[in-house]
Amino acid sequence: MSRRRSLWALAAAGVLAMSGVAACGSDDDDGDNGGGGGGGGDKPKVAVLLPDSKSSVRWETVDRPLLQKALEAGGVEATITNAEGDKSTQQQQAEQAITNGAKVILLVNLDSGSGAAIEANAKSQGVKVIDYDRLTLDTDANDYYVSFDNEKVGKLQGQGLVDCIGNKKGARIAELNGSPTDNNATLFKNGYDSVLKPKYESGDFVKVDDQSVPDWDNQKALTIFEQILQKADNKVDGVLAANDGLGNAAISALKQRKLPQIPVTGQDATLEGLQNIVAGDQCMTVYKAIEKEANAAAELAIALAKGEKPTAKTVPIDNGTHSVPSVLETPVSVTKDNISQYFGNPDYPKKEDICAGKLQAKCKSLGL
Ligand code: BGC
Repeated sequence: MSRRRSLWALAAAGVLAMSGVAACGSDDDDGDNGGGGGGGGDKPKVAVLLPDSKSSVRWETVDRPLLQKALEAGGVEATITNAEGDKSTQQQQAEQAITNGAKVILLVNLDSGSGAAIEANAKSQGVKVIDYDRLTLDTDANDYYVSFDNEKVGKLQGQGLVDCIGNKKGARIAELNGSPTDNNATLFKNGYDSVLKPKYESGDFVKVDDQSVPDWDNQKALTIFEQILQKADNKVDGVLAANDGLGNAAISALKQRKLPQIPVTGQDATLEGLQNIVAGDQCMTVYKAIEKEANAAAELAIALAKGEKPTAKTVPIDNGTHSVPSVLETPVSVTKDNISQYFGNPDYPKKEDICAGKLQAKCKSLGL
């Protein structure tokens, strides 16, 4: 191949060789038709680049299997890798995917800067890019964006917190925001602040703190929330936590201090989040039907990989550089009252798992 290589690509390949990272191969889920060999099978190739496995369990436990299934069902060869939070690893994975002949990359970026570099390189080599879940800002190299209405996610969180707090006048609220480098975290915050700001202004609520958690790191969230409690003299009446992992960190900090349960929000309808709701430690989560998101992204990727024009209905979303054709699914709010509504969905935890062990009695009392 006589493709021109950018400098960082060469550097990346060097690092790969040195670190013995088996590139995509090790993550290439049992590529059905003898796969692996590279250059072999005639199925068009699609690469999925996941961000990490710790900021939310969704990426490995829900997105990966659903994307794998949808892509394979569409007759393409899917290679799914996870950068585990490391931007240069993600760049290497993208480069490797292109070297292996990927026609399409589905990217969950770690921030817009590194995402834009990956996308520019892909574009220069004729590879199509779909921003999966997180929009990459300030680049013209993303062909599509598939996600949820993320401001709506935030609005549901804000309204959920308001509903859980009820009419406790002067309720003291702490906000635990997602990663400042994730465009979604900005959108979530815009959403919940649109609900909370009027409450702060009217004096119904008092904002005691407002902190962002780098990389959505749950461990850092615990430390940050401990400091929030310390500073606020433990006087916090409600927590707007941007996802279930951050919510769980706040709950752990409250428990460590033996403080009573207070309304805490979340997102992702994770097993832990739903268990926290059943236990009364968390007041709501946002369920995003990831199967729909994965299927929508796969449909686009399959068409692009086969050189066809996608037929999906899209809406334009401005990423600061151009208008990205986008597919946005709709999120819903989950509280203890409607937990059972989504049982049976492939992207939603199973009742047996939620209600296992010490939550059995609590589940019974909720009629689960
Ligand atoms: C996703 C959330 C997820 C968070 C941390 C966001 O971009 O939309 O579902 O909880 O990242 O991974």
